[in-house]
Amino acid sequence: MDIRFLGHACFELSEGDTRVLVDPFLTGNPKAGADASELEPTHIFLTHGHQDHYGDVVDIAKRTNAHCVAIVELAGELQEQGVENVSDPNIGGTVTFEDAGLWVRLTPAWHTSTTPNGLVNTPAGLVINLGGKIVYHLGDTGLFSDLQLVKARDDIDVAIMPIGGHFPMDPGDAVVPAQWFGAKQVIPCHYNTSPPIEQDAQQFK
Ligand code: NI
Ligand code: MN
Repeated sequence: MDIRFLGHACFELSEGDTRVLVDPFLTGNPKAGADASELEPTHIFLTHGHQDHYGDVVDIAKRTNAHCVAIVELAGELQEQGVENVSDPNIGGTVTFEDAGLWVRLTPAWHTSTTPNGLVNTPAGLVINLGGKIVYHLGDTGLFSDLQLVKARDDIDVAIMPIGGHFPMDPGDAVVPAQWFGAKQVIPCHYNTSPPIEQDAQQFK
């Protein structure tokens, strides 16, 4: 699997012809690694509806017809915005696809969320299987003990973790679940995008 960091909490996971875009905040993201119009995802998954995660989801989904997955209330808003190809799980739910063994499960995340349109929704983490590898994108969350339950079921190959502080965990807190997971690879995100989340990733490392 190829993993491409596109700035803030946005990642593209690719395996063969399957391209999963997570949290496509590109327009207005000072650290955006691509222009929203360049991306051709087959799937788009959202952790929650805050603007710095929701981003360009509606425009990209309408242009590409990528299959979107978001928690049920957020999925409903995407459909109201005219996105046609949407799955609407809730926490604990798994959505499975034919492509490259792809599935995604929503896990709890301790955070809040309101979309740019004002819809209050529950944040989630995303456990994603693609090509036989498990990526756990924690979304925005504080530290809480149930994060370790993901590992009870799935061996986490890659953990994508926020370290920015102020909104989600800071590096000191993020180290704790990083040690629980025993992941082969840990990728920090959600830092140095704006002044409140300035952090030293080397210190986290
Ligand atoms: Ni958030
Ligand atoms: Mn955020």
